[in-house]
Amino acid sequence: MKIGILGAGHIGKALARLLAEAGHEVGISNSRGPETLRDLAERLGHGVTAYSNEDAARFGDLVIETVPFGHYADLPSVQLKGKIVIDTANYYPERDGQIDLGGLSESAFLARHIPGARVVKAFNTIQAAHLESQGDTNKPLSQRRAIPMASDDAEAKAVVGQLIEEIGFAPVDNGDLEQSKSQQPGTPIYGREANPEEARQVLGGQS
Ligand SMILES: NC(=O)c1ccc[n+]([C@@H]2O[C@H](COP(=O)([O-])OP(=O)(O)OC[C@H]3O[C@@H](n4cnc5c(N)ncnc54)[C@H](OP(=O)(O)O)[C@@H]3O)[C@@H](O)[C@H]2O)c1
Repeated sequence: MKIGILGAGHIGKALARLLAEAGHEVGISNSRGPETLRDLAERLGHGVTAYSNEDAARFGDLVIETVPFGHYADLPSVQLKGKIVIDTANYYPERDGQIDLGGLSESAFLARHIPGARVVKAFNTIQAAHLESQGDTNKPLSQRRAIPMASDDAEAKAVVGQLIEEIGFAPVDNGDLEQSKSQQPGTPIYGREANPEEARQVLGGQS
């Protein structure tokens, strides 16, 4: 699959490497332009290509947005229309500034700013270093670390669940975008190294 990654920080780099190694075509962007990412793309290998935000979004059949939440307004909403968009972001007011979510979950709020995108919340509960090191495709799903995912689009969620399995983790269905509040910072699943059964218990047995 062609995967565009918006953001080349801790999570963007980890997912670029893992997904490229799993055989996907990966394009990646940052805030400063593709020329600042060519070295990184070369180091990642596997044909990873540096793009602008707009081109990375256009390139991906699926797009991962992994820029700090405070920059949500910069996302290329036109190019994201109709795409599956994985939202890895967490809202930290001290980092991102005061943003009025209007009572919505972070991902439901984001989804309103990229209308037509098929938003799936995932990978926000795991530290980048653990994402790099804890996936293991040799383990059965029941023994892998769980990655909760939430979306209003069941088909998009199934596609993301498949990617999670391909890089050695176990997807756990955490309901719709509003339900994703239960995987935001400060919740019991956040940062927790749980297998799928434990994760379902912690999340309230929703899947
Ligand atoms: N770090 C973790 O362990 C972790 C775990 C789970 C979830 N998260 C969440 O995932 C998101 C990304 O975290 P991170 O730690 O990977 O961030 P990070 O290391 O600070 O990197 C942020 C990346 O986003 C890019 N960026 C910033 N504004 C942008 C814009 N307008 N357009 C395109 N790219 C832009 C930056 O590019 P420049 O360098 O050019 O500015 C940089 O490549 C955050 O919401 C974070 O809370 C992080």
